[in-house]
Amino acid sequence: MTNIEWVNAYQENLLGVFGQPQTCFTHGKGARVWDVDGKEYLDLLAGIAVNALGYAHPEIVKTISEQAGRFTHVSNFFTTPQQVEAAAAVKKVCAAGWGSEVQAEITSQARVLFVNSGTEANEAALKMALAAQPGGRAIALKGAFHGRTLGSLSLTYKAPYREPFAPFVGPTEFVEASVSGIQGVDPKGITAIFLEPLQGEAGVIPLAPDVLAAARGLADQTGALLIFDEVQTGMGRCGKWLAHQGICYHGKEIIPDVVTLAKGLGAGVPVGACVAMNERAASALKPGRHGTTFGGNPLVSAVVARTIALMEELDLPAHAARVGDAWIQAIAEAKIPGIKATRGQGLLRGLILEKNIAPDLAKALFKAGFIVNAPAANIIRLAPPLIIELAEAKTLIPALKEAIAQVELDLGKGE
Ligand SMILES: Cc1ncc(COP(=O)(O)O)c(C=O)c1O
Repeated sequence: MTNIEWVNAYQENLLGVFGQPQTCFTHGKGARVWDVDGKEYLDLLAGIAVNALGYAHPEIVKTISEQAGRFTHVSNFFTTPQQVEAAAAVKKVCAAGWGSEVQAEITSQARVLFVNSGTEANEAALKMALAAQPGGRAIALKGAFHGRTLGSLSLTYKAPYREPFAPFVGPTEFVEASVSGIQGVDPKGITAIFLEPLQGEAGVIPLAPDVLAAARGLADQTGALLIFDEVQTGMGRCGKWLAHQGICYHGKEIIPDVVTLAKGLGAGVPVGACVAMNERAASALKPGRHGTTFGGNPLVSAVVARTIALMEELDLPAHAARVGDAWIQAIAEAKIPGIKATRGQGLLRGLILEKNIAPDLAKALFKAGFIVNAPAANIIRLAPPLIIELAEAKTLIPALKEAIAQVELDLGKGE
């Protein structure tokens, strides 16, 4: 069957929430993926910041097939070596980037709950906060994206996502992502404060250290749990293991009570984690207060442990920092007409366009064999596999130049 035939068959068989798929893929290798018609694409989105190790990494293929030969699932009535090893590796990730004292504290107190997605990690974090300090409201930031299930949706800013499902979503106050926005909140009755250290869906917007510090201050003042959603930014994506690591304000480390992870955590297998970073958070949810059938099963756990080990071996967070900086510098030096500025960290970058042509530009680039996306009308998001090499990433530059010129020409004709 051809691409068109598969897409038509998709529409006859799948629910339409994702709209019409752009194509039907068959396989991938490294940062490249091929569709049914044999067309090759350079994937600069990595399945929305998921495929950190690229497609079909031989070590991940081996890990999955070896684990499938033992077993893939046992239920959470039991544990497995894979699950315990994966949790220990996740704790190591959460402690990385700090001085030895902070590392030792996190290592001794942190506890991991494996779930199956980013939204579930945030659901668990919300329940953790409600268990620690019941009855209050949540604070989230304007522009925030925390997921699509009802609890996480209540923390997600975009009205068209959230409002059709109200009032079943919880009481959340959305504040500006600024010090004054956070400090202007009435401190009475707060249960949870959620933020992404770098807002991905809002358009790749890093938060300043003083904003993170204000959130930490509000949490300390009110007893609310401070939750950093690192679903998109974590696992090396921003040039360090977690985007908030190493950020201090007036010499004081800013450490959240809870970290949520998913996306790159399993290099493509569906897995999320809600990590309680200290004893208070870790003891909030008593036995029986939360659960998941699949969470942390031996298959995904084996992959999580191997993914983290490979990222360590390949020094991928540092690689992401190096390649990301050099790539964005090369894009800036190319002085491409139509690109106003760039922002972001590591291999999570936004190109800010002069005009609101990002969706058309993403389509034109796709036609040219490059996968990117447009989280806002004037922003192109780049989030390639972390294994990408600079030379490969730089092939975007001439294509970008041509695609912008073509889109502007087409728009001109339509005017
Ligand atoms: C910051 C952030 N949190 C949560 C989610 C939800 O993750 P999932 O789609 O795995 O439920 C996403 C997904 O894009 C995200 O970017």
